[in-house]
Amino acid sequence: MSTTYGPDEIAALQEKAKRHLWLHFTRMSSYADADVPVIVRGEGAYVYDQRGKRYLDGLAGLFVSQIGHGRTEVAEAGARQASQLAYFPLWSYAHPQAVALADRLAALAPGDLNRVFFTTSGSEAVESAWKLAKQYFRTVGEPGRFKVLSRSIAYHGTSMGALAITGLPGIKEPFEPLPPGGVRVPNTNFYRAPEFVATDVTAFGVWAADEIERAILREGPESVAAIFLEPCQNSGGCFPPPPGYFQRVREICDRYGVLLVSDEVICAFGRLGHYFGAERYGYQPDIITFAKGVTSGYAPLGGMLVADRLMEPFAAGSSTFLHGVTFAGHPVSCAVAMANLDVFEKEDLLGNVRSHEGAFRATLEKLADLPIVGDVRGDGYFYGIELVKDKATRETFDDDESERLLRGFLSHALFDSGLVCRADDRGDPVIQLSPPLICTQEHFDEMEQILRHVLTEAWTRL
Ligand SMILES: Cc1ncc(COP(=O)(O)O)c(C=O)c1O
Repeated sequence: MSTTYGPDEIAALQEKAKRHLWLHFTRMSSYADADVPVIVRGEGAYVYDQRGKRYLDGLAGLFVSQIGHGRTEVAEAGARQASQLAYFPLWSYAHPQAVALADRLAALAPGDLNRVFFTTSGSEAVESAWKLAKQYFRTVGEPGRFKVLSRSIAYHGTSMGALAITGLPGIKEPFEPLPPGGVRVPNTNFYRAPEFVATDVTAFGVWAADEIERAILREGPESVAAIFLEPCQNSGGCFPPPPGYFQRVREICDRYGVLLVSDEVICAFGRLGHYFGAERYGYQPDIITFAKGVTSGYAPLGGMLVADRLMEPFAAGSSTFLHGVTFAGHPVSCAVAMANLDVFEKEDLLGNVRSHEGAFRATLEKLADLPIVGDVRGDGYFYGIELVKDKATRETFDDDESERLLRGFLSHALFDSGLVCRADDRGDPVIQLSPPLICTQEHFDEMEQILRHVLTEAWTRL
């Protein structure tokens, strides 16, 4: 089948999309008088729409397509598995692909994270980690521990439990009351640090970590089960941890018996130049949650990597972790994940990120000469560009300006100019970039040029 559509096919596709398809987190009314963007094909770092127009995939779909698009060897691994055994559950049974992948992930993960519990998505992984923390503490005689800490503006998923951990009031409010026990602590946005630590990133990190200790003490340590932290926080626009932050958090968690969950749904599988973000920043989590890049999106899969000691109470007698989902660890997804990791090894994708990340940063930092660019931050192939109204005072946009700038102009203009990225104002307005790990200087230059052109235009419209 051709991947470029004729005018009649496009009209039919648009009509059906507008009539029947419900897009996620999307203001559907914005497509009343505009085309729904339809992507039909991908190759390498590029995707193509229904008319054959090419776009640089600067967001790896949604922080997913690590190895890039159109890898037939990965697709074929999925097809072979579907022919041999399309489905069997991980409820009481195993299949060879889940065994092989669990073994491989355990070997890649830091420390004693040797037990893999598969899910189908990141939200389910987060949900599973909270449920495991709760049931674990009940099983070992600390039933009062159920609360979970997370950082302000952090996104940890949309199912009810994961949403209770998410720190974005705007997307939680319609679903209140959520499961109780979610507690917020500050994030590590140094650009917006409180004044008394605004000039010293290490002191800022000490303060932000100590706020976690203060929250644990305020809530009562005997009631706190876990803290969920991304290695580099996505929502708000890529906040890397200050130096020493995670080491201090680890100490605090150990002091109060709180589990440290590294939510690596975005940061694992090369996004930060390592298989896991915890390795990059040198800390040992009790649980790692993952999804997205584990398959590079060739099939859906998520899961959690769990420390041996958390599994121990469930390894003897009648004790059972009372949790599972039908499609978790799907054979096709596991086969695809194995083939995906083969590509990582064969092409040294971690090495590619590590050797080019400095150039990526330097290329994006060129944009700092624009009056609208306040901050460029991130690590690896994961960057946020914070937009401001006044560079000197760091004044941000009001709701109305933000609406006009991001929704009214930037999102469409960037896409129309051939760049898939994200313009987001769930915190202060940011543009986010998270390209496939195969990208090199030519792709960085293309991103910079499109951003320069569109951000310059945005400034004149304010
Ligand atoms: C850190 C983090 N946790 C959890 C999730 C939820 O993952 P999913 O959309 O696969 O449910 C996301 C999604 O972007 C995420 O970034």
